[in-house]
Amino acid sequence: EKGGYASFMLKEIAEQPKAVADTLLGRIDEAGQLTLDEVRIPASVLREVDKVVIVACGTAYHAGMIAKYAIEHWTRVPCETELASEFRYRDPILDQGTLVIAISQSGETMDTLMALRHAREQGARVLAICNTNGSTIPRESDAVLYTHAGPEVAVASTKAFLTQLVACYLVALYLGQVRGTKWGDEVGSVIRELSAIGAQVEEVLETMEPVRELARSLAGCGTVLFLGRHVGYPVALEGALKLKELAYMHAEGFAAGELKHGPIALVEDGLPVVVVVPSPRGRSVLHDKIVSNIQEIRARGARTIVIAERGDEAVRPYADHLVEIPPTPVLLQPLVATVPLQVFACELATVRGNEVDQPRNLAKSVTVE
Ligand code: M6R
Repeated sequence: EKGGYASFMLKEIAEQPKAVADTLLGRIDEAGQLTLDEVRIPASVLREVDKVVIVACGTAYHAGMIAKYAIEHWTRVPCETELASEFRYRDPILDQGTLVIAISQSGETMDTLMALRHAREQGARVLAICNTNGSTIPRESDAVLYTHAGPEVAVASTKAFLTQLVACYLVALYLGQVRGTKWGDEVGSVIRELSAIGAQVEEVLETMEPVRELARSLAGCGTVLFLGRHVGYPVALEGALKLKELAYMHAEGFAAGELKHGPIALVEDGLPVVVVVPSPRGRSVLHDKIVSNIQEIRARGARTIVIAERGDEAVRPYADHLVEIPPTPVLLQPLVATVPLQVFACELATVRGNEVDQPRNLAKSVTVE
């Protein structure tokens, strides 16, 4: 069943290029336009949407955080992403103009389900992004866009996360397309870039031995910090979550801009800090800021583990360990930047003797509150 892999997690990490490609399959017509027939919310309704609210838990929530950047950039519709467990106990302001997107691999997560029920009661439309056919969340939603990751067995979510991202990008582009925003005209080119990602994930997977080696060298560490900016911030949170759930290590993700507001006090000699660096092309100001963050933490003794685009020479002098990833557009970088963090956590869990597929205290789907 594990197809020769030592764990389902390793198998599922390896399946990511295919999962990404499968999630794009059949959703683009010959003219390069999106045909999301499953999204049975009429275009006239989508044109009237004045707010998008994304609800999810855990890794799916991180996908939703990344989706916010894409939705606001491509559609100019305000978007909030909220933990389902917080959303449902507030008194959120929703109406018929609100599109709620519920993201869930299993389609059975209780908090996400309760959040969507609450949203529908207020008159909002709910679109589910889900990996499990016929599960409760899609059944109770107005529409569903299925991710085609195939069954995910390991408790730690990997391929489902990448396909959730792809689905979020598709929804964002689709909204842009039906609403006729300037990005609506760019759908074809973004889709081409998305279609290239599978091969880039494959490339990352082929170069992971140094990451595994590094992980083994950190087996005795107590804490690992993760930093990122922009879409790299949720990637940092995801890297930290993977490390907590698999390696049972203390791991925290921060927005790099928050360093000086507290977290930098944690930095001491030898502390491993993983930094996700945005592309030096595109928004170069983001890149410059993170280079100074790396300098700041290194000056305080941090052992810097830098995930950066291939050819990014500016970070090299400050990286104790450099993990190179292929160049992608800024918004799509999480699809490749997350992969080394999955491999890192999986290897650390293995070397620490943990049960990779079935971490202690956790269940694959959280159907209780
Ligand atoms: O099935 P769901 O996507 O709704 O699950 C949400 C979280 O429970 C899940 O992503 C969890 O955080 C993973 N174990 C993380 O790897």
